[in-house]
Amino acid sequence: MADAKPFQWEVTPEPITKEVFRIEGGRPLNGTVPISGSKNAALKLFAAATLTGERCRFTNVPEIEDVRVMTETLQDLGVVVDHPAPNVYEVASGDVEWLFVPLEAAAKMRASFMLLGPLLARFGRVIISNPGGDRIGRRPVDLHVDAMRTLGAEISYRNGYYFATAPGRLRGTEIRFPFVSVMGTENAILAATLADGHTVIRPAAQEPEVDDLIAFIQKMGAEVQRTYPDTIEINGKRRLRGADHRVIPDRIETGTFIVAAAVTGGKLRLEGAPCDHLGRFLDVVASTGLSVSCGKDSIDVDATDVGPGAFRPTDVTTAPYPGLATDLQPPTCVLLTQANGTSRVHEAIFEDRLEWLGELRRMGAGITLLDDHHATITGPARLRGAEVEIGDLRAGASLILAALAAEGVTTIHGAHHVHRGYENIERKFLDLGARIERLAEGNDSTNS
Ligand code: EPU
Repeated sequence: MADAKPFQWEVTPEPITKEVFRIEGGRPLNGTVPISGSKNAALKLFAAATLTGERCRFTNVPEIEDVRVMTETLQDLGVVVDHPAPNVYEVASGDVEWLFVPLEAAAKMRASFMLLGPLLARFGRVIISNPGGDRIGRRPVDLHVDAMRTLGAEISYRNGYYFATAPGRLRGTEIRFPFVSVMGTENAILAATLADGHTVIRPAAQEPEVDDLIAFIQKMGAEVQRTYPDTIEINGKRRLRGADHRVIPDRIETGTFIVAAAVTGGKLRLEGAPCDHLGRFLDVVASTGLSVSCGKDSIDVDATDVGPGAFRPTDVTTAPYPGLATDLQPPTCVLLTQANGTSRVHEAIFEDRLEWLGELRRMGAGITLLDDHHATITGPARLRGAEVEIGDLRAGASLILAALAAEGVTTIHGAHHVHRGYENIERKFLDLGARIERLAEGNDSTNS
């Protein structure tokens, strides 16, 4: 370990440039929009690249804040991350000299905890901060830690940090999760690839991003298979090699643009976005009466016939894949504000992920929050411009959707949250005919 580096227990958060979106709504969106690579796939691929000293090359990486944070986090460990062209990154972890993932990284992004499994498996030790992430409720990491312990790691927790060591190699074993966890599954997979022997993970998350991670590490030489829909088996290897990989399209961005067409009464082609990964979201969309046609590598959405206000109400519950993604709950709620009648929403994955509906209600939506996990939405609402605040990135993107559908001007505070996960979002909306600006906080003049 390099000893010149200060051992930073505490962190003063970097000042955030406060920005607002100013949106003049009421215009149908039309045209073609390119869908970027998946945030939640790319971040794990970068973590997986630390399993080898050889160079890994990723294309279709979204240019977003979370990728920038992951890049910086890796560079602080001594990993070389090159960015030779837009959306292309090369990660070479030959000289990892600092097995310490600080609070600074963890406070910005929960996915920093994805470095636990690979660093522990390859180097036999890591000190890693308890992660933060979005304001969507308590988000513990006990399943990750328990999985590592099951693989033979010794882990203690002091001063907000996990101190993990693996005397000798990790040992293949059966990992039984009490319920499905996406990153818990991914961390366990990455750790098990370099463990001694055979590992079975059950119930394993079935999200497309998990399968993208598996596809990549198979190219690295890992012996890993999904043997049943909810079971992943791994035969540990002594070493892995570098590989190239193209990140899958972002299914959450895809769903966001589908709703954008719907609530503005527009017509969009989503390019580079197959329907395959949308799971139950497509059924929800169909039951509202919105027409979506799936091409080989694109999706067409035409809401010019249905028109906002004429959708059918639909009850929805979020669930692990292939259920309705919790990350698509916010855009789905915006769609339901335009349904003729009452829809019930059950957010089953996270607590506090319905809080943002208070902001949507300020824009005129007919929303009743029943408890932390349940709400009703009664439409069709005539949404109107308002001053609202973003709490997390998915809610933020969804407030943009509501603003695009609303009459008048909306000012959305907290624009920086959205840039964590959406590449060039205002440019994409502008190209479709939206009136959206990103301004420094304080320079916004709101007419609503
Ligand atoms: N949970 C625990 N203990 C753990 C891990 C999870 O109690 O150790 C709980 C969580 O609190 C939650 C449930 O298990 O109630 C499921 O959480 P999961 O572990 O599946 O979520 P995650 O892996 O932390 C990923 C995505 C989230 C997405 C969820 C669910 C990444 C980087 N994040 O989080 O994405 O909502 O899966 O699909 O992949 C986003 O992109 O905006 C985002 C929040």
